[in-house]
Amino acid sequence: MNYNIALIKGDGIGPEIVDGAVAVLQKIGEKYGHTFNFTEYLAGGCAIDATGKPLPEETVEGCKNSDSVLLGAVGGPKWDTLPGNIRPEKALLGLRAALGVYTNLRPAKIYPALKSACTLRPDIIDRGFDMVIVRELTGGIYFGERGRREGKYGPEAYDTEAYSVMEIERIARMAFEAARKRRGSVISIDKANVLETSRLWRETVHRIGEQYPDVTCEDMLVDNAAMQLVRDPSRFDVVVTSNMFGDILSDEASQITGSIGLLASASLGDSKCGLYEPIHGSAPDIAGQDKANPIATILSAAMMLRYAFDLNDEANCIEAAIDKVLADGIRTADIVGDSGATPIGCKAMTEEIIKRL
Ligand code: IPM
Ligand code: MG
Repeated sequence: MNYNIALIKGDGIGPEIVDGAVAVLQKIGEKYGHTFNFTEYLAGGCAIDATGKPLPEETVEGCKNSDSVLLGAVGGPKWDTLPGNIRPEKALLGLRAALGVYTNLRPAKIYPALKSACTLRPDIIDRGFDMVIVRELTGGIYFGERGRREGKYGPEAYDTEAYSVMEIERIARMAFEAARKRRGSVISIDKANVLETSRLWRETVHRIGEQYPDVTCEDMLVDNAAMQLVRDPSRFDVVVTSNMFGDILSDEASQITGSIGLLASASLGDSKCGLYEPIHGSAPDIAGQDKANPIATILSAAMMLRYAFDLNDEANCIEAAIDKVLADGIRTADIVGDSGATPIGCKAMTEEIIKRL
């Protein structure tokens, strides 16, 4: 089969890690007889430099006309002082909205070989940890009305969160469906003791949950969830939560896996074409030095094969190669922990993974 993939390398370490994922996909193509055609588009800081806009029209059109989109990372100190509407991050939000990818799946699990890179006590880790965060991605406070105005105490700024019943229903369904294929448990995270959007969230999730009697559904307040996640991460299977809470909790979850450099994500809507990206940022401090960990982006490419193209064997092959590389003690700098391994670079890590495909 032939697949057209839009590539958005972005800024910072983005180009290095996307190159790693492309090399892996090419090898998978050879092995299984597929052709992946890659077309590069600009977004983020590099797009601002080249065109004055973080998300050029051409990029949106190109992505919409592709079978799938693989994205590295956007942003960096160079563009940090620009006004909010022309910041690199705006490209990411604009693309998520333009592609209608309202569901963001962020799996996080512990690799036994990486226990030493994890910040939790070994006895906690030994209980196991394998969860997926189902983050709402195109609504909530990220997309609500915001601005500056004159307030009671002088100039002030505001951001608003709104969620419609429809938006909560569709993300809840995604979570219950995901739980059916896993351990059958959904924990819905909100702040229903304070926020009206959370109260609507809670009642809507439960109403959808009634259609899934085989899945258990529990509510958890977000502050408590932040605590439970480090106290006993083994109790989490599927977590469903709002855009903002999902952003925060997924970074927290990444530390339990050992490094944010390991966490992949798939952003899906109603069409099969989705957006696949690591959850980490552009790491400008190590950009261009061949130090980045490409694993999160390579795992995002595996999620693309599975969700966009139904290529399960191919996705499993990539995941198994990564399990193997980690079991063999091969480490980039972020996952060395106290293993005593000599860290290798982004290119060498990519090669080691390709060898094991
Ligand atoms: C993420 C990132 C983005 C987000 C930023 C870069 C806008 O933190 O994908 O988690 O908040 O969604
Ligand atoms: Mg984030």
